[in-house]
Amino acid sequence: MIYLHFDATWDLQAVWDDIHERPFILLGFTSLILLLPLAATSNNFSIRRLGTYWKKLHQLSYVIIVCEITHYWLQMKVGQTAAMPYAVLAALLLAFRLWARINNDRDAGLEVQERS
Ligand code: HEM
Repeated sequence: MIYLHFDATWDLQAVWDDIHERPFILLGFTSLILLLPLAATSNNFSIRRLGTYWKKLHQLSYVIIVCEITHYWLQMKVGQTAAMPYAVLAALLLAFRLWARINNDRDAGLEVQERS
């Protein structure tokens, strides 16, 4: 809203031109749009209603964090490093999730093998 009001002054052609000139804007828009269904379903009712689909939907947060860090990174001026700590933290957290996932899958595979 702040961007639309102050930067683009509600001129959709200006938004379109801006996206061409500064592609990081598109990543900001993408993140914002992907965040909407997560915000709308972040309540107990939706968790119960959506069941296993809820978890799948909220895995969008991995896509959002990558879009967002890239958005932050690309809007930096040459020589700035402000996005670096967030990028490192996000990379560590994503690597940890991947590692946990691989280990869980391996353990589940071993359990199936032991039972059969
Ligand atoms: C419609 C969606 C979005 C648009 C159009 C947009 C646009 C922008 C623009 C133009 C800047 C540069 C500001 C400057 O030059 O000082 C910026 C910076 C930034 N944006 Fe976005 N953004 C959007 C969504 C988001 C979202 C969803 C997040 C986080 C959840 C985010 C996080 C940031 C951050 C952290 C910065 C750096 C701020 C700073 O260093 O002062 N943006 N964004």
